[in-house]
Amino acid sequence: MAGRHLVVAIDGPSGSGKSSVSRAVASALGAAYLDTGAMYRALTWWLLERGIELSDRELVGASSVLAPLQIGLDPARPTVEVGGVDVNDAIRTERVTNAVSAVATNLEVRADMRRRQRALIAEGLGLRGAIVAEGRDITTVVAPDADVRILLTASESARIARRARQDHGTDDADTVAATHSRVVGRDALDGTVSQFTAAADGVSTIDSSELDFEQTVLAVLAAVADRVVVDGF
Ligand code: DC
Repeated sequence: MAGRHLVVAIDGPSGSGKSSVSRAVASALGAAYLDTGAMYRALTWWLLERGIELSDRELVGASSVLAPLQIGLDPARPTVEVGGVDVNDAIRTERVTNAVSAVATNLEVRADMRRRQRALIAEGLGLRGAIVAEGRDITTVVAPDADVRILLTASESARIARRARQDHGTDDADTVAATHSRVVGRDALDGTVSQFTAAADGVSTIDSSELDFEQTVLAVLAAVADRVVVDGF
């Protein structure tokens, strides 16, 4: 659509289905797509490759601004590169998943990521006139003035079962038990720097506990359509 300007911000905890839902919503809208979690993961991968001690908060904070991250905004192929190396798979490994919260809770890192994420949102708007950006603090800190702000939640048990299926292909009792502490522990740590369990003022909550993937995508698209109609977009 010529001249459109639409920012959709989606936050939520681990296992809420945020990434896949946001990507599908971006595709349906012909919008750009930004996975901000992938940025924290890519930075973590780069720091680990360089042998930087993640508990050295000062060094990690100072290193963040030097990281050569390149993020592609096409929802059909959201690329993540560091210094020209494709890290899309490497950043989803347990090694990075277990380490990323230590980096994401560094306030200097967050300031750097916020600056980069705002620039990427502007880039996405330039490319497609619309962007769906997802993470933990997009509705509250990175883009609090977004046209549509959504908190995508799900019950703890639904989130843990989803993560278990995603990471291990099963949600049997043993796998769920092993996944439980990882998901809850990570959210607790991430929750010390961002508020993503309750909706801030002006943010709509969509609870996907009882919804399948398609229904969740439709619920988000309906929330976007509501805003578009209400505001005469
Ligand atoms: O959504 P994810 O699992 O890919 O996120 C990776 C990590 O980055 C996770 O520890 C939460 C953190 N994160 C954050 O603090 N703020 C964001 N906007 C996005 C992710």
